[in-house]
Amino acid sequence: MKSIKEIENIKGKRILVRVDFNVPILNNKVVDDFRIQKAIPTINFLAKKGAIVILISHAGEDGTQSLDIIAKVLKKYVDNSTFIKSTILSDETEELVKKLKPGSVTLLENIRREVGEKKNDVSFARGLSRLGDIYVNDAFSVSHRVHASVVSVAKFLPSFAGLQLIDEVKHLSVVSEDPKHPFLFILGGAKFETKLPLIKKYLPTADSLFIGGALSNQVFVEQGYEVGLSLVEQKNYNLPKLVKNPKIILPIDLLVSENKKTHFTKPNNITKNEHIYDIGPETIKKLEEEISKAKLILWNGPLGRIEDGYDAGTKALLKAIAASRAISVIGGGDTVEIISKLKMEKDFTFVSTGGGATLEFLAKGTLPGIKALK
Ligand code: 3PG
Repeated sequence: MKSIKEIENIKGKRILVRVDFNVPILNNKVVDDFRIQKAIPTINFLAKKGAIVILISHAGEDGTQSLDIIAKVLKKYVDNSTFIKSTILSDETEELVKKLKPGSVTLLENIRREVGEKKNDVSFARGLSRLGDIYVNDAFSVSHRVHASVVSVAKFLPSFAGLQLIDEVKHLSVVSEDPKHPFLFILGGAKFETKLPLIKKYLPTADSLFIGGALSNQVFVEQGYEVGLSLVEQKNYNLPKLVKNPKIILPIDLLVSENKKTHFTKPNNITKNEHIYDIGPETIKKLEEEISKAKLILWNGPLGRIEDGYDAGTKALLKAIAASRAISVIGGGDTVEIISKLKMEKDFTFVSTGGGATLEFLAKGTLPGIKALK
Protein backbone atom coordinates (compact mmCIF):
# COMPACT_ATOMS: atom_id res chain seq x y z
CA MET A 1 0.00 0.00 0.00
CA LYS A 2 1.25 3.45 -0.87
CA SER A 3 0.74 6.04 1.85
CA ILE A 4 -0.82 9.46 1.22
CA LYS A 5 2.59 10.82 2.19
CA GLU A 6 3.82 9.57 -1.20
CA ILE A 7 1.33 11.60 -3.25
CA GLU A 8 3.21 14.10 -5.40
CA ASN A 9 2.01 17.59 -6.35
CA ILE A 10 -1.01 17.45 -4.07
CA LYS A 11 -1.90 21.15 -4.36
CA GLY A 12 -5.18 21.66 -6.23
CA LYS A 13 -5.79 17.92 -6.78
CA ARG A 14 -9.30 16.61 -6.10
CA ILE A 15 -8.86 13.71 -3.70
CA LEU A 16 -11.72 11.28 -3.13
CA VAL A 17 -11.29 9.96 0.40
CA ARG A 18 -13.36 6.93 1.48
CA VAL A 19 -13.91 7.30 5.21
CA ASP A 20 -16.19 5.30 7.48
CA PHE A 21 -18.49 7.68 9.33
CA ASN A 22 -20.90 4.85 10.12
CA VAL A 23 -21.22 5.93 13.74
CA PRO A 24 -23.85 5.08 16.35
CA ILE A 25 -26.83 7.45 16.06
CA LEU A 26 -29.64 7.71 18.63
CA ASN A 27 -32.60 10.11 18.37
CA ASN A 28 -30.92 11.81 15.43
CA LYS A 29 -27.73 12.47 17.43
CA VAL A 30 -24.26 10.99 16.98
CA VAL A 31 -23.55 9.23 20.27
CA ASP A 32 -19.93 8.27 19.61
CA ASP A 33 -17.67 10.03 17.09
CA PHE A 34 -14.54 7.86 17.54
CA ARG A 35 -14.46 6.93 13.84
CA ILE A 36 -14.82 10.57 12.78
CA GLN A 37 -11.96 11.63 15.05
CA LYS A 38 -9.77 8.88 13.65
CA ALA A 39 -10.18 10.20 10.08
CA ILE A 40 -9.14 13.75 10.98
CA PRO A 41 -5.33 13.29 10.65
CA THR A 42 -5.73 12.15 7.02
CA ILE A 43 -8.22 14.92 6.21
CA ASN A 44 -5.98 17.60 7.75
CA PHE A 45 -2.84 16.22 6.11
CA LEU A 46 -4.40 16.48 2.65
CA ALA A 47 -6.19 19.80 3.20
CA LYS A 48 -3.05 21.46 4.61
CA LYS A 49 -1.16 20.46 1.48
CA GLY A 50 -3.79 22.27 -0.60
CA ALA A 51 -5.80 19.30 -1.86
CA ILE A 52 -9.54 19.52 -2.52
CA VAL A 53 -10.75 16.85 -0.10
CA ILE A 54 -13.99 15.09 -1.09
CA LEU A 55 -15.17 12.66 1.59
CA ILE A 56 -17.28 9.61 0.77
CA SER A 57 -19.01 7.57 3.51
CA HIS A 58 -21.98 5.44 4.33
CA ALA A 59 -23.97 5.38 7.56
CA GLY A 60 -26.44 2.63 8.32
CA GLU A 61 -26.98 -0.41 6.20
CA ASP A 62 -29.38 0.84 3.54
CA GLY A 63 -28.63 4.51 2.86
CA THR A 64 -31.79 5.94 4.45
CA GLN A 65 -29.75 7.86 7.04
CA SER A 66 -28.68 11.30 5.73
CA LEU A 67 -25.12 12.30 6.53
CA ASP A 68 -26.26 15.85 7.38
CA ILE A 69 -25.98 15.24 11.13
CA ILE A 70 -22.56 13.66 10.65
CA ALA A 71 -21.48 16.74 8.66
CA LYS A 72 -22.31 18.86 11.72
CA VAL A 73 -20.06 16.71 13.93
CA LEU A 74 -17.29 16.89 11.31
CA LYS A 75 -17.48 20.70 11.50
CA LYS A 76 -16.42 20.49 15.15
CA TYR A 77 -13.08 19.08 13.97
CA VAL A 78 -12.72 20.73 10.53
CA ASP A 79 -14.42 24.10 10.77
CA ASN A 80 -14.39 24.99 7.06
CA SER A 81 -15.93 21.65 6.00
CA THR A 82 -19.12 21.62 3.92
CA PHE A 83 -21.77 19.06 2.94
CA ILE A 84 -23.20 18.37 -0.53
CA LYS A 85 -26.61 16.85 -0.09
CA SER A 86 -27.49 16.26 -3.75
CA THR A 87 -27.29 12.85 -5.44
CA ILE A 88 -23.64 11.90 -5.81
CA LEU A 89 -23.67 11.18 -9.54
CA SER A 90 -25.57 14.28 -10.68
CA ASP A 91 -24.85 17.50 -12.59
CA GLU A 92 -25.55 19.42 -9.40
CA THR A 93 -22.84 17.61 -7.41
CA GLU A 94 -20.42 17.89 -10.34
CA GLU A 95 -20.96 21.67 -10.51
CA LEU A 96 -20.54 22.09 -6.75
CA VAL A 97 -17.35 20.00 -6.75
CA LYS A 98 -15.91 22.15 -9.59
CA LYS A 99 -16.28 25.23 -7.39
CA LEU A 100 -14.34 23.76 -4.44
CA LYS A 101 -11.10 25.53 -3.59
CA PRO A 102 -7.72 24.02 -2.68
CA GLY A 103 -7.60 23.25 1.04
CA SER A 104 -11.35 22.73 1.31
CA VAL A 105 -13.09 19.67 2.77
CA THR A 106 -16.52 18.44 1.64
CA LEU A 107 -18.62 15.47 2.65
CA LEU A 108 -20.89 13.86 0.05
CA GLU A 109 -24.30 12.34 0.92
CA ASN A 110 -24.62 8.69 2.03
CA ILE A 111 -22.97 6.56 -0.70
CA ARG A 112 -25.39 3.69 0.02
CA ARG A 113 -28.18 5.77 -1.56
CA GLU A 114 -26.58 4.87 -4.89
CA VAL A 115 -27.70 1.51 -6.24
CA GLY A 116 -24.29 0.70 -7.71
CA GLU A 117 -22.43 0.97 -4.39
CA LYS A 118 -23.22 -2.33 -2.68
CA LYS A 119 -23.18 -4.16 -6.04
CA ASN A 120 -19.60 -2.99 -6.57
CA ASP A 121 -20.90 -1.82 -9.96
CA VAL A 122 -18.00 -0.95 -12.22
CA SER A 123 -19.76 1.74 -14.25
CA PHE A 124 -20.94 3.41 -11.04
CA ALA A 125 -17.36 3.29 -9.74
CA ARG A 126 -16.14 4.85 -13.00
CA GLY A 127 -18.67 7.68 -12.61
CA LEU A 128 -17.61 8.19 -9.01
CA SER A 129 -13.94 8.31 -10.01
CA ARG A 130 -14.68 11.25 -12.34
CA LEU A 131 -15.26 13.44 -9.28
CA GLY A 132 -11.59 13.07 -8.30
CA ASP A 133 -7.99 12.88 -9.54
CA ILE A 134 -6.78 10.56 -6.76
CA TYR A 135 -8.47 7.97 -4.52
CA VAL A 136 -7.61 7.43 -0.86
CA ASN A 137 -8.98 4.67 1.37
CA ASP A 138 -8.97 5.66 5.04
CA ALA A 139 -11.92 3.45 5.93
CA PHE A 140 -10.39 0.30 7.44
CA SER A 141 -13.67 -0.57 9.15
CA VAL A 142 -15.57 -0.98 5.87
CA SER A 143 -12.66 -2.48 3.89
CA HIS A 144 -14.11 -6.00 4.29
CA ARG A 145 -16.99 -4.96 2.00
CA VAL A 146 -16.62 -5.47 -1.73
CA HIS A 147 -18.40 -2.22 -2.57
CA ALA A 148 -17.79 0.28 -5.39
CA SER A 149 -16.34 3.06 -3.21
CA VAL A 150 -14.06 0.59 -1.42
CA VAL A 151 -12.90 -1.72 -4.22
CA SER A 152 -13.80 -0.86 -7.85
CA VAL A 153 -13.13 2.87 -7.71
CA ALA A 154 -9.43 2.10 -7.10
CA LYS A 155 -9.24 0.67 -10.65
CA PHE A 156 -9.81 4.09 -12.16
CA LEU A 157 -7.57 6.41 -10.12
CA PRO A 158 -4.08 6.43 -8.62
CA SER A 159 -4.84 5.00 -5.19
CA PHE A 160 -3.31 5.50 -1.74
CA ALA A 161 -3.87 4.43 1.86
CA GLY A 162 -4.84 6.96 4.52
CA LEU A 163 -3.05 7.28 7.86
CA GLN A 164 -5.68 5.41 9.91
CA LEU A 165 -5.78 2.50 7.45
CA ILE A 166 -1.98 2.22 7.66
CA ASP A 167 -2.10 2.35 11.46
CA GLU A 168 -4.73 -0.40 11.64
CA VAL A 169 -2.75 -2.70 9.38
CA LYS A 170 0.46 -2.02 11.31
CA HIS A 171 -0.97 -2.78 14.76
CA LEU A 172 -3.18 -5.71 13.80
CA SER A 173 -0.33 -7.33 11.82
CA VAL A 174 1.95 -7.28 14.88
CA VAL A 175 -0.49 -9.64 16.58
CA SER A 176 -0.44 -12.20 13.80
CA GLU A 177 3.16 -11.83 12.64
CA ASP A 178 5.23 -11.09 15.73
CA PRO A 179 3.31 -11.72 18.95
CA LYS A 180 5.09 -11.06 22.24
CA HIS A 181 4.65 -13.75 24.90
CA PRO A 182 2.79 -14.42 27.11
CA PHE A 183 0.07 -13.58 24.57
CA LEU A 184 -3.46 -13.43 26.00
CA PHE A 185 -6.40 -13.41 23.59
CA ILE A 186 -9.80 -12.40 25.01
CA LEU A 187 -12.84 -13.10 22.87
CA GLY A 188 -16.39 -12.07 23.71
CA GLY A 189 -19.55 -10.98 21.96
CA ALA A 190 -21.75 -13.36 20.01
CA LYS A 191 -21.82 -15.28 16.70
CA PHE A 192 -19.39 -18.17 17.07
CA GLU A 193 -19.23 -18.52 13.31
CA THR A 194 -17.33 -15.24 12.99
CA LYS A 195 -14.99 -15.99 15.93
CA LEU A 196 -14.15 -19.65 15.23
CA PRO A 197 -11.62 -18.84 12.45
CA LEU A 198 -9.83 -16.57 14.94
CA ILE A 199 -9.74 -19.23 17.65
CA LYS A 200 -8.31 -21.73 15.17
CA LYS A 201 -5.73 -19.26 13.87
CA TYR A 202 -4.53 -17.87 17.20
CA LEU A 203 -4.78 -20.90 19.49
CA PRO A 204 -1.38 -22.22 18.36
CA THR A 205 0.38 -18.86 19.03
CA ALA A 206 -1.60 -17.57 22.03
CA ASP A 207 -0.51 -18.65 25.51
CA SER A 208 -4.05 -18.39 26.81
CA LEU A 209 -7.40 -17.70 25.19
CA PHE A 210 -10.43 -16.60 27.19
CA ILE A 211 -13.88 -17.24 25.73
CA GLY A 212 -16.59 -15.08 27.31
CA GLY A 213 -19.80 -13.22 26.49
CA ALA A 214 -22.48 -15.10 24.57
CA LEU A 215 -19.71 -17.27 23.08
CA SER A 216 -19.26 -19.05 26.40
CA ASN A 217 -23.04 -19.64 26.64
CA GLN A 218 -22.61 -21.66 23.46
CA VAL A 219 -19.77 -23.67 24.97
CA PHE A 220 -21.84 -24.41 28.09
CA VAL A 221 -24.89 -25.52 26.13
CA GLU A 222 -22.78 -27.85 23.99
CA GLN A 223 -21.21 -29.25 27.18
CA GLY A 224 -24.73 -30.20 28.22
CA TYR A 225 -25.21 -27.49 30.88
CA GLU A 226 -28.53 -25.74 31.40
CA VAL A 227 -28.22 -22.10 30.22
CA GLY A 228 -31.83 -21.09 30.89
CA LEU A 229 -32.99 -18.20 28.72
CA SER A 230 -29.47 -17.05 27.74
CA LEU A 231 -28.51 -16.12 24.20
CA VAL A 232 -27.36 -19.20 22.26
CA GLU A 233 -27.31 -20.23 18.60
CA GLN A 234 -29.24 -23.24 17.27
CA LYS A 235 -26.02 -24.71 15.91
CA ASN A 236 -23.35 -27.12 17.00
CA TYR A 237 -19.71 -26.13 16.68
CA ASN A 238 -18.18 -29.20 18.33
CA LEU A 239 -16.96 -26.96 21.15
CA PRO A 240 -16.46 -29.50 23.97
CA LYS A 241 -13.56 -30.92 21.94
CA LEU A 242 -12.09 -27.48 21.25
CA VAL A 243 -12.22 -26.27 24.85
CA LYS A 244 -10.30 -29.33 26.08
CA ASN A 245 -7.21 -27.43 24.94
CA PRO A 246 -5.51 -26.34 28.19
CA LYS A 247 -4.88 -22.86 26.81
CA ILE A 248 -8.62 -22.13 26.79
CA ILE A 249 -10.10 -20.34 29.78
CA LEU A 250 -13.86 -20.19 30.36
CA PRO A 251 -15.87 -18.20 32.92
CA ILE A 252 -15.85 -19.92 36.32
CA ASP A 253 -18.69 -17.82 37.70
CA LEU A 254 -21.44 -15.77 36.11
CA LEU A 255 -23.92 -13.01 36.85
CA VAL A 256 -27.40 -14.40 36.17
CA SER A 257 -30.81 -12.81 36.39
CA GLU A 258 -34.33 -14.09 36.98
CA ASN A 259 -37.25 -11.65 37.02
CA LYS A 260 -34.79 -8.75 37.22
CA LYS A 261 -33.13 -10.14 40.37
CA THR A 262 -29.47 -10.92 39.86
CA HIS A 263 -26.95 -13.13 41.66
CA PHE A 264 -23.64 -14.88 40.96
CA THR A 265 -23.53 -18.59 40.27
CA LYS A 266 -21.41 -21.36 38.73
CA PRO A 267 -21.82 -22.33 35.06
CA ASN A 268 -23.19 -25.78 36.02
CA ASN A 269 -25.79 -24.28 38.38
CA ILE A 270 -27.99 -22.25 36.07
CA THR A 271 -31.72 -22.84 36.17
CA LYS A 272 -34.36 -22.81 33.42
CA ASN A 273 -35.62 -19.26 34.01
CA GLU A 274 -32.27 -17.53 34.37
CA HIS A 275 -30.36 -15.38 31.89
CA ILE A 276 -26.56 -15.20 31.85
CA TYR A 277 -25.70 -11.49 31.77
CA ASP A 278 -22.03 -11.09 32.69
CA ILE A 279 -18.93 -12.77 34.11
CA GLY A 280 -18.56 -12.95 37.90
CA PRO A 281 -15.87 -11.71 40.35
CA GLU A 282 -13.90 -14.98 40.44
CA THR A 283 -13.59 -14.94 36.65
CA ILE A 284 -12.53 -11.29 36.76
CA LYS A 285 -9.87 -12.14 39.34
CA LYS A 286 -8.56 -15.02 37.22
CA LEU A 287 -8.37 -12.75 34.16
CA GLU A 288 -6.66 -9.99 36.13
CA GLU A 289 -3.93 -12.51 36.99
CA GLU A 290 -3.57 -13.46 33.31
CA ILE A 291 -3.49 -9.78 32.33
CA SER A 292 -0.74 -8.99 34.84
CA LYS A 293 1.46 -11.74 33.33
CA ALA A 294 0.77 -10.93 29.66
CA LYS A 295 3.05 -9.01 27.32
CA LEU A 296 0.49 -8.87 24.52
CA ILE A 297 -3.29 -8.71 24.90
CA LEU A 298 -5.71 -8.90 21.99
CA TRP A 299 -9.38 -8.37 22.84
CA ASN A 300 -12.48 -8.47 20.69
CA GLY A 301 -16.09 -8.38 21.89
CA PRO A 302 -17.80 -7.55 25.20
CA LEU A 303 -17.99 -10.06 28.06
CA GLY A 304 -21.58 -9.33 29.10
CA ARG A 305 -24.85 -7.84 27.85
CA ILE A 306 -23.43 -4.32 27.88
CA GLU A 307 -26.33 -2.97 25.80
CA ASP A 308 -28.57 -3.60 28.85
CA GLY A 309 -26.08 -2.16 31.31
CA TYR A 310 -24.38 -5.43 32.36
CA ASP A 311 -20.91 -4.07 31.74
CA ALA A 312 -19.12 -4.56 35.08
CA GLY A 313 -16.97 -7.45 33.80
CA THR A 314 -15.99 -5.64 30.60
CA LYS A 315 -15.17 -2.44 32.50
CA ALA A 316 -13.12 -4.23 35.16
CA LEU A 317 -10.99 -5.88 32.51
CA LEU A 318 -10.54 -2.66 30.55
CA LYS A 319 -9.20 -1.08 33.73
CA ALA A 320 -6.88 -4.03 34.42
CA ILE A 321 -5.51 -3.89 30.86
CA ALA A 322 -5.07 -0.11 31.05
CA ALA A 323 -3.03 -0.56 34.24
CA SER A 324 -0.86 -3.34 32.78
CA ARG A 325 2.36 -2.93 30.80
CA ALA A 326 1.27 -5.27 28.02
CA ILE A 327 0.87 -4.21 24.42
CA SER A 328 -2.93 -4.00 24.11
CA VAL A 329 -4.89 -4.18 20.87
CA ILE A 330 -8.65 -3.86 21.23
CA GLY A 331 -11.34 -4.02 18.55
CA GLY A 332 -15.05 -4.51 17.97
CA GLY A 333 -17.70 -1.78 17.83
CA ASP A 334 -19.35 -2.46 21.21
CA THR A 335 -16.13 -2.65 23.21
CA VAL A 336 -14.91 0.53 21.52
CA GLU A 337 -18.14 2.36 22.43
CA ILE A 338 -17.52 1.60 26.12
CA ILE A 339 -13.88 2.71 25.80
CA SER A 340 -15.05 6.01 24.26
CA LYS A 341 -17.66 6.51 26.98
CA LEU A 342 -15.03 5.94 29.67
CA LYS A 343 -12.62 8.21 27.74
CA MET A 344 -10.00 5.45 27.89
CA GLU A 345 -8.89 5.51 24.21
CA LYS A 346 -5.39 6.61 25.16
CA ASP A 347 -4.95 3.88 27.79
CA PHE A 348 -4.35 1.14 25.21
CA THR A 349 -1.65 0.62 22.61
CA PHE A 350 -4.24 0.51 19.83
CA VAL A 351 -8.02 0.67 19.61
CA SER A 352 -9.26 -0.53 16.23
CA THR A 353 -12.10 1.33 14.48
CA GLY A 354 -13.32 -1.94 12.97
CA GLY A 355 -15.95 -4.45 13.95
CA GLY A 356 -16.37 -7.11 11.25
CA ALA A 357 -13.35 -5.72 9.39
CA THR A 358 -11.05 -6.28 12.39
CA LEU A 359 -12.20 -9.88 12.76
CA GLU A 360 -11.72 -10.55 9.06
CA PHE A 361 -8.30 -8.89 8.98
CA LEU A 362 -7.13 -10.86 12.02
CA ALA A 363 -8.34 -14.08 10.41
CA LYS A 364 -7.07 -13.50 6.86
CA GLY A 365 -4.31 -10.89 7.13
CA THR A 366 -5.87 -8.68 4.45
CA LEU A 367 -9.18 -7.25 3.24
CA PRO A 368 -10.70 -6.56 -0.20
CA GLY A 369 -10.30 -2.79 0.22
CA ILE A 370 -6.61 -3.23 1.07
CA LYS A 371 -5.96 -5.58 -1.85
CA ALA A 372 -7.61 -3.03 -4.18
CA LEU A 373 -4.90 -0.47 -3.34
CA LYS A 374 -2.05 -2.71 -4.46
C1 3PG B 1 -19.14 -1.34 10.30
O1 3PG B 1 -19.74 -0.61 11.10
O2 3PG B 1 -18.73 -2.47 10.61
C2 3PG B 1 -18.83 -0.79 8.94
O3 3PG B 1 -19.17 0.54 8.83
C3 3PG B 1 -19.51 -1.61 7.88
O4 3PG B 1 -20.88 -1.44 7.94
P1 3PG B 1 -21.86 -2.54 7.33
O5 3PG B 1 -21.81 -3.73 8.25
O6 3PG B 1 -23.21 -1.90 7.25
O7 3PG B 1 -21.34 -2.90 5.97
